[in-house]
Parts: sequence; structure tokens; C-alpha cells
Amino acid sequence: MTAVASRVRHFVSIADVEADELWTLLDLAARLKTDRSPRRDLAGRSVALVFEKPSLRTRLSFDVGTAQLGGHCVYLSPAEVGLGRRESVSDVARVVGRMADVVVLRVNAHETIEEFARYSEVPVVNGLSDLSHPCQGLADIFTIRERKGPDLHGVTIAYVGDGNNVAHSLMLCAAKTGATLRVATPPGYEPLARFRQLADAAARASGGRIECGTDPRWAVDGADVVYTDVWTSMGQEQEYERRRRAFHGYQVNAQLLAGAKSDAIVLHDLPAHRGEEITDEILDGPQSAVFDQAENRLHTEKALLCWLGARR
Ligand code: CP
Ligand code: NVA
Repeated sequence: MTAVASRVRHFVSIADVEADELWTLLDLAARLKTDRSPRRDLAGRSVALVFEKPSLRTRLSFDVGTAQLGGHCVYLSPAEVGLGRRESVSDVARVVGRMADVVVLRVNAHETIEEFARYSEVPVVNGLSDLSHPCQGLADIFTIRERKGPDLHGVTIAYVGDGNNVAHSLMLCAAKTGATLRVATPPGYEPLARFRQLADAAARASGGRIECGTDPRWAVDGADVVYTDVWTSMGQEQEYERRRRAFHGYQVNAQLLAGAKSDAIVLHDLPAHRGEEITDEILDGPQSAVFDQAENRLHTEKALLCWLGARR
């Protein structure tokens, strides 16, 4: 089967957008957050959500966001489509593109979304894969700018935990916006080398810095932002016990946070495994910006939909 010659712009990774496009998206999201008047950007258009995994924030933010832009959203649950099982990925891509104007995919394997994008005649948005979570990255960097000012040069972000999909997208966002990011993971759970290389190249261009190590105290020392995510991601449940042991000492708690700046904010993409990677005291405490960060999924994804819609 022949792939579609791509004139279409996809959002499969933060690597798909140039730094100036990222700034455009963030600025548009800020305007959309301030000005809540009804819009018609997606009038007459439909957004399809094809999900292989559960979701609260991603599903809700795209559904509500599409409605607020005057469009219509359709959710297809993990039980329905059977990407690559009931039907080939390429056939699903070609059918969805005949009916919907944008498709948001949440997939087990990143290759699925890459294959889908090769056959899709409409923009494909990555709503989470095992390797990246670029919509989360947008909301994360938006929240950091909101709390720490628009210029991220000199802002230090500490990421403590698993070098996973969320870490990969955060690395690329920080690198493209000139921030400094220190990533502390247990040995064997580092971010993938290819994301490290992409982030290093982007950081060289922006004046940012990405550093990886294994010591959570080193990462958090004097940081402006302390970020963590679950130790066991969706699909890794069989590794739960091994991971709990490996991540011992990587919990974001009062003792660890004491090493950051006194006005540091705490971020978590949610859902949290309370008592594992983060304590209740910190997640619910005065330094937590976690629920603003969750809300910001709505504003940043509306900006993304406007931007992708406008490009068709
Ligand atoms: N953070 C995030 O993507 O949440 P959901 O898995 O609930 O969509
Ligand atoms: N790393 C987590 C993120 C959930 C939003 C996972 O993939 O399950």
C-alpha cells in the first residue's frame, strides 16, 4: 500500500515543530486562556479521538476544546477500533481522514502513530505513545512560563523519576525554549539516546541545557521547577514491583523539595500514584501547580487545533 505524499502537518513529536512555531502555539494558548469568548475556528469540522489506552485529561481537553472552537468531537474507545488487529492501521487512517478533519491518537507503540501519519490525509496529533507525550509537553512548558515568566533562559527544571514519554517531551520543550533541564533517573531508566540527541541539538540552538544524571538531590538543587511522573506507566504494570524497588529514593517529598528554591513549583502530568513518586503533602501543598497544569491542557490543545486547522 502506498503512503500518502504528505502535504499535511502532523504533531507526532515536539521535534515536529520549530522553536518559533512552539512560541506561536504558547502565545496563542495564552490568548485563548484569557479570552474565553466563543470561537468558530473549527465550525463544521470534526476531531476524531482514537484511543488504545484510558484517559481523563487528554480526552476531556480535546472534547471540550473542540466544542469551544465550534467543532464536533468523536471518541473511539480502546474496545472499538482495534488498530492493527481488527483492521490495518493504514485502512483506519484512510477511513478516518474521509470523515474527520483532525485525528488524535493514543497508542501503545509509537510506531503505530508513525504508520498512521504516513497514510493520513488529515493532521495526526499524538495524544500519548510509549515514547512521547507532546500535548503534555506543551501544557508543561506553558505552565512554567505562566509561573516563571515568558523568558525561560535561566529557569532550571528538575525532572525526577522515569526517563519516559513525559520526560522525552519535556526535554524537547525545555531544549527548544532555552530552559535548563536536569533529569535524574535510576540507572537503566534514562531517557532514550535519540531524544537526548535531539534535545542537545535544540538546546545548542536556543541557549538551553539538558543534563542527565542519577542523583535526585543534584537535579533539584536550586531548581525553579520540580517535576515527576509515575514510575510505572500504562502498559508496564507487570514491572510494577521491580520498578518500585528501582525508584526507591526518587520520591518527590518535603525532604527532596527542600533542596529547590523556596519559590519552586511542583509539576506532575497526572494521574499520580500518590505515596509512590510524590507525597500527598507535596501534591496538595502550596508549591503544587499541578491542577493549573492539568487545566492548561485545554488551552494549549485549543491552540494546537487552531494552528493545525488553519494550516489545512
Ligand atoms: N496527563 C494525561 O495525559 O492524562 P490522561 O492520561 O488522563 O489523559
Ligand atoms: N507516563 C505515563 C503518562 C500518563 C499521562 C504513562 O504513559 O502512563
